[in-house]
Amino acid sequence: MEIIEKAPAKINLGLDALYKREDGYHELEMVMASVDLADRLSFEATKENKIVIETDSSFLPLDRRNHVYQAAELLKREYHLKQGVKIQIQKNIPVAAGLAGGSSDCAATLRGLNRLWNLGLSLEELANLGGRIGSDVPYCIQGGTAFVTGRGEKIETLPPMPQCWVVLVKPRMSVSTGSIFGSLSFNSIQHPDIEGLKDAVTRNDYHLMATKVGNALESVTIKRHPVIQQIKDRMMKYGADAALMSGSGPTVFALCEKKSRAQRIYNGLKGFCEEVYIVRTLK
Ligand code: C5P
Repeated sequence: MEIIEKAPAKINLGLDALYKREDGYHELEMVMASVDLADRLSFEATKENKIVIETDSSFLPLDRRNHVYQAAELLKREYHLKQGVKIQIQKNIPVAAGLAGGSSDCAATLRGLNRLWNLGLSLEELANLGGRIGSDVPYCIQGGTAFVTGRGEKIETLPPMPQCWVVLVKPRMSVSTGSIFGSLSFNSIQHPDIEGLKDAVTRNDYHLMATKVGNALESVTIKRHPVIQQIKDRMMKYGADAALMSGSGPTVFALCEKKSRAQRIYNGLKGFCEEVYIVRTLK
């Protein structure tokens, strides 16, 4: 039997850091939304007690460094399972991009193996397990539009974000989330209006939402990689309603009500960066 799970990318419409906690993590307030750019994972039972990962991507490790491997290992350990599994990852989401590709693959693995091995775990139980692997994994278990707080484990489902076109632009470099959080200074932080953003999303007010998007990590990553500011400026010049870095970066997204604007941004940025995508928001 083969089980298939899709693992959608997310964007941060809002990301605020409130303070650094004693455990070293930051207390966050985020508004996240899934978009229709997804990896595809398949899970197949095997006789040998081993976790085997295959992928078409040259960027992914196939061993314990991969969060997919860690998810399978965690379930096997917790539930004393002796089954083997072959996991194939068809990678479409850019790696180390701020789009939660690795976390979404990890979440898809927890959902997929829950089905393959008939574990009967609830989404909440899967989210708790996922939180032991990475802060974005609990949100990725359910995806959609959500208000996410704590370290990433407290999730309040929101109505789907207003429908629009999203242009994703991933500059060449990769960014380490830990290192960006490490450089965040609470003396110079710019806090976005997360309450206002949440309200705009809840009221399905696209234009208000476009004025409220914001990310407290953006200026930290831009300092290191000024190209992010250049991408934002170009997006706005080509007619984006809003342009923002996602997560700790480096991917920048533009929001557009009209498809023709999204196409213009796509055309304008395609020569500037290699990885450019036009996607839709997910319901
Ligand atoms: O949880 P995860 O391993 O994905 O996080 C990567 C790094 O990002 C952490 O080691 C930490 O430095 C930083 N982080 C943080 N506060 C959070 C989430 C992540 O400081 N809420």
